[in-house]
Amino acid sequence: MLSWDEFDKEDGAEAASPAKNNAAQAGADMSLEKLNQVGGNAALEARAVDASDSAAVARAKQALNDLDIQEGLDELEGSSARVEVGDKQMINARADLNQLVPFKYDWAWQKYLDGCANHWMPQEVNMTADIALWKSADGLTEDERRIVKRNLGFFSTADSLVANNLVLAVYRLITNPECRQYILRQAFEEAIHTHAYQYCIESLGMDEGEIFNMYHEIPSVAKKASWGLKYTRSISDPKFETGTPETDRQFLKNLIAYYCVLEGIFFYCGFTQILSMGRRNKMTGTAEQFQYILRDESMHLNFGIDMINQIKIENPHLWDATMKDEATQMILQGAQLEIEYARDTMPRGVLGMNAAMMEDYLKFIANRRLTQIGLKEEYPGTTNPFPWMSEIMDLKKEKNFFETRVIEYQTGGALSWD
Ligand SMILES: [Fe+2]
Ligand SMILES: [Fe+2]
Repeated sequence: MLSWDEFDKEDGAEAASPAKNNAAQAGADMSLEKLNQVGGNAALEARAVDASDSAAVARAKQALNDLDIQEGLDELEGSSARVEVGDKQMINARADLNQLVPFKYDWAWQKYLDGCANHWMPQEVNMTADIALWKSADGLTEDERRIVKRNLGFFSTADSLVANNLVLAVYRLITNPECRQYILRQAFEEAIHTHAYQYCIESLGMDEGEIFNMYHEIPSVAKKASWGLKYTRSISDPKFETGTPETDRQFLKNLIAYYCVLEGIFFYCGFTQILSMGRRNKMTGTAEQFQYILRDESMHLNFGIDMINQIKIENPHLWDATMKDEATQMILQGAQLEIEYARDTMPRGVLGMNAAMMEDYLKFIANRRLTQIGLKEEYPGTTNPFPWMSEIMDLKKEKNFFETRVIEYQTGGALSWD
């Protein structure tokens, strides 16, 4: 805990010194303009090299005297004028990106606050029961052990792919400070997730080389990773810039790949398997870690969907028939890869589920991702075989800004359909 008592004591001593009191009184009646001038001059005087300065101090002062401030200011992103809400845009904005307020996208700031309110750390979760179960000879079946290993293998590297894409590509290209504030929070949460998988792998005494290399060595894991990486490659080039319809669409595809497919589909078979294990009182510590991660991920997903929909509103020309078709294809490819992953991780029934049920669930999820970004369902009539997953995620919180707004309109009083 911090204590302010020490500071109070010093203040008291200062107040008792008459010399310092006089210095504080001098200039008490100065105008604001005069004060600014006096302060500015005094700051410059502090930089003058004097005889008592060592060579190193003199050199530091001289370097600052030679500094061209304008050069640094010119490099700041966006114009240096005061920001008006109307200047703000998701991509290609010219407003100063270092001025957080006034907010334009309240949903982004709210998600930043919600993310901070959900803060957790992996070491807070008790792993004792998991360690005993994992080490006992007949604690888990071979199929259950396969599920734990495959999922730790996929997730331990997938969250790093997501974090790298965010930090090396998305952050630079989103030109809005409140969205960037959430992206920084999300990037830290991805670090916590990778930490959580590492913590499970270490606690259970698994072969770290085997688990962390699955994304090279196990085809159903490798395919998902390389599908995502394809979309990072082009836009993580430091020379890549948005600003033409073609490059803007390329960036939009990256957002769809990562938010709708990686975080929105590729995580769902694994989450369901591990949480199903927890519901059966097995690997409860690992399942609790995954539950915290899922709560974060459903917010990442909804933030991404809000960004995609906002970019569409601000740049309607990007969302043409070709782009809609490509976006649909991306989500269908993602669902297909996740169905293959389900079959590979569940060659036979386990934990009250099987690959066919998971296939239905993934089609249900893919329909949802399609409609969330304004596309039509491609698997009509699919129902959710795992309604308990929605309860765990708390669908009320899973609502994104655009959906919530629609619901508010419906309950808004002016219209009644009764
Ligand atoms: Fe994550
Ligand atoms: Fe995430």
